[in-house]
Amino acid sequence: MLSCFLIVTCFISCKDTRIHTAKTWKINDGWKFIQKDVPNAKEINFDDSTWTTVELPHDWSISKPFSKQNPSFSRGAWLPTGISYYRKHLDISDIGTDQKVFVHFEGAYRNAEVWFNAHYLGKRPSGYSAFEYEITKFIDRTSKNILTVKLDNSEQPGSRWYSGNGIYRDVFLKVKNSIYIPTWATYVTTPKVSKQSATLNVKSEVVNVDDKTRKLELRVSVLDTRGKEIIQDQKYIAVQGGKKYALDLDLEIKKPLLWHINDPDLYNIRLELFEKEKSVDKDSVRVGIRKMEYTVDKGFVLNDDPIKIKGVCLHHDAGPLGAAARKTSYERQIRILKEMGANAVRTAHNPFDSEFLDTCDEMGMLVMNEAFDEWEVVKKPQTFREKGNKVRIPVKYYAHLFKEWANKDLKDFILRDRNHPSIFMWSIGNEIDQMRDESGVAIAKRLMDIVHQYDNRPATCGVNGYGWGDWPHEPAVAQIDIPGYNYAKGENYDKEHRDFPNRKMIVTEHTSAQMIANRGEYYPFKSVESSLQLDLPISHTDTQKFLKNRKAYEQGMKAWIDVKNRPFVMGEFIWTGWDYLGETIPYSWPARSSSFGVVDLAGFPKDGYYYYQSQWTSSPMIHLFPHWNWQGHEGEKMHLNVFSNTQEVELFVNEVSQGRKTNDLNSTKMLTWEVVYQPGNVKVVGYNSGKMITQETLNTVGDISSLELEVTDNTEITYIEVKALDKDANFIPTANHKINFKIENAELLGVANGNNRSLEPFVASFRKLYNGKAIIILKKNNSNKPGKVIVSTDGIPEVDITF
Ligand code: GAL
Repeated sequence: MLSCFLIVTCFISCKDTRIHTAKTWKINDGWKFIQKDVPNAKEINFDDSTWTTVELPHDWSISKPFSKQNPSFSRGAWLPTGISYYRKHLDISDIGTDQKVFVHFEGAYRNAEVWFNAHYLGKRPSGYSAFEYEITKFIDRTSKNILTVKLDNSEQPGSRWYSGNGIYRDVFLKVKNSIYIPTWATYVTTPKVSKQSATLNVKSEVVNVDDKTRKLELRVSVLDTRGKEIIQDQKYIAVQGGKKYALDLDLEIKKPLLWHINDPDLYNIRLELFEKEKSVDKDSVRVGIRKMEYTVDKGFVLNDDPIKIKGVCLHHDAGPLGAAARKTSYERQIRILKEMGANAVRTAHNPFDSEFLDTCDEMGMLVMNEAFDEWEVVKKPQTFREKGNKVRIPVKYYAHLFKEWANKDLKDFILRDRNHPSIFMWSIGNEIDQMRDESGVAIAKRLMDIVHQYDNRPATCGVNGYGWGDWPHEPAVAQIDIPGYNYAKGENYDKEHRDFPNRKMIVTEHTSAQMIANRGEYYPFKSVESSLQLDLPISHTDTQKFLKNRKAYEQGMKAWIDVKNRPFVMGEFIWTGWDYLGETIPYSWPARSSSFGVVDLAGFPKDGYYYYQSQWTSSPMIHLFPHWNWQGHEGEKMHLNVFSNTQEVELFVNEVSQGRKTNDLNSTKMLTWEVVYQPGNVKVVGYNSGKMITQETLNTVGDISSLELEVTDNTEITYIEVKALDKDANFIPTANHKINFKIENAELLGVANGNNRSLEPFVASFRKLYNGKAIIILKKNNSNKPGKVIVSTDGIPEVDITF
């Protein structure tokens, strides 16, 4: 949903051709689709009856087989890319003769070219930008009309991560009168905010494309968090033909409910244009009333409350749904990250779906909204070696488009997103090589000027290279409102702070305490000293470094402690909050998704998640790992590790205490006991002020006896978690049974288990459990009957759940 669009249900054709009801609606259903180049598909009479019918959002590559032959390589999750076409038949013959019609795309990957009734409307190369065309003059009022979209993502490798392929975000049709409020014109800020009162400044535009002066009433109202109108103001305006009226209005709200990450209250600002008492156009934006300050000594301050940024970087895909994420996917993702204690997300490294930002507004998650990964110089690797041959093929990311498109992509991004209260900072780039030389100065300044022209929030840029000896080019860094530090260390922050005591600083990216681990994979007996994690086929020179996972955890812990105890650093964003498709480094085939995340691709937390929970939340928690099922290793030594936020922790093996330890929350070493494996159970107990406050027990488990199904999220679509249990209802952390499922009254959207090497398709009626778990994602069909999924595996009774 575009929060700024108001969808009205009626459509009235009036006698006065100049006054109709304006209307905006989604046209996501009934698109015809084909995955090949069909140059004559733009022709009006082209026969698309054999094409597949699809519903948007649509990512056509996600359901395809993974193949080493696909030129998207590991970066693109080994999934296919190429040319595709979409056609949409539109019945718009009852549009008023004086009305204007626009088609609005929230994003389509990539090089989208659009025709309406065979007339070429234009091309938008970036697959992440929203764009809009007017189609009025090409409308045929005597028959159906046809919209054709060609997407071309055939130049590969085309992205450093999985981009998705298709019209993977919403498409809207907008019908306006000849006097209207243009897309993205309405902009609401909150220049004065206190608990007693707040000033809202409302800016907008009314455009008159008629040749006569039009006299109108512009009504502006504020609806409170319960939807009740609390303020109404109006302007009587006369707009000359061919001219614009600019609205600039202050409204005062007494005792406002403030938007805060713990209490994200939202207001609606409605604009409605009336001519002769008839409504001619409407617009609506949702706002949060809050005060944001950026300081050197207290960091980021929200409504006078200093907030350390506890952030995660995310890529835009929704795992098994690919780039065709749904609102529910975002709600689930933000919920799980908030439960970890995260309070901010960095949208690495491109504009996200508007619905993602809506969700952050609603759930109280701050957003660092990032526009670009690179500028004019393409990111390394700049070429790929083609399968064993010495041929090198240049990558086609965004650099070749930057000169022509960056200004427009950035401007549109700011205009589209600037009303979201959750955005606390913009970002104009990530690890830009040009920040290391003079060429970066002018570009940084130009991009910053665009941000400042259209919004009042500051911008950062993720800069790397601090501590590499030859530091980033200071005149380029000086252009940035709040420089972002990628992969720097405590001593680097200190030096920056000494050299530039007035500089505000934020860690845009740092390693996570999970590094490159898969959920629930342990090799605790390989080397008691270092190895908690897995072996995979690896194509990376740093293999050994990565395998020593205890060090990787401790590197992530140190990264956070370096930030935590420096008030002049606003906070950090870990790489990443969630596993994402593509960028499988350091692994190669068969890995097809990353494993940097503290949450796996299916949405299940890994052990590192609990490190952040122990640091970022205050309710008592404790997490013990690895599990306690090591048949064949009886009598051998291994390590047990604990993340907890309690003051002391005691470990018991089969009820025998292994000692109580102080839990130093500033330590960069893991809290660990060396024990001898013996089947039974292990228990950890957390104490505050000497009193037991929380505990966790892990048992040696038996064979699978049942499957547990749980509907965890059920709004636009439904997420169902599957877990393997033994006869005593213990979770089995090693189960890898293949499960099959049957579905009633619903459509399967995707399945996943969190294993980054699984080459099972994402859309299939089966899945192997991975370390005990899998997720099934469904969309209820239109029948009034409840959806149902029936899950079975060999040797145990099938189970079902309705939703
Ligand atoms: C960073 C980069 C990210 C990702 C990460 C992987 O340097 O900004 O986009 O590539 O490395 O470690």
